[in-house]
Amino acid sequence: MSKILIATGADHGGFKMKQELIKHLKQFKFEVIDFGTNDTKPVDYPDYAEPVVTAIQEGKADMGILVCGSGVGMSIAANRYKGIRAALCYDETTAMLSRQHNDANILVLGGRLTKLTAAKKCVNKFFSTKFEGDRHSRRIRKIG
Ligand code: RB5
Repeated sequence: MSKILIATGADHGGFKMKQELIKHLKQFKFEVIDFGTNDTKPVDYPDYAEPVVTAIQEGKADMGILVCGSGVGMSIAANRYKGIRAALCYDETTAMLSRQHNDANILVLGGRLTKLTAAKKCVNKFFSTKFEGDRHSRRIRKIG
């Protein structure tokens, strides 16, 4: 079975969680392309959303994870791009529904607001849940 390619990115507020999630992902069937940041020095979240989004748009990654302090900045930045559906999730239910109903292709997390155990649960659910299509496809087409 081919590996699923996940692009990751974070600002300083999400750096620590991103590192933990990369370790977590690598235990399973995922390959990770990490676009930084690589430490806790303050940076601007749009600069780290952009390469993750581009990797997905260009087919170099299947899906993505973005983390900033609250998750809000990364969501706003990523959702500006065509074909991107970035979902800010905080538990298994939001992660599951964002895949089933919204066909989200980026999982966004708040590194300062969400506990690591909950973030790992979001990751597990997000990448194992399929889009349900049907009426939800019609709704997504209307966004596009
Ligand atoms: C950085 O301090 C913080 O503003 C950022 O990580 C994020 O939460 C923005 O939405």
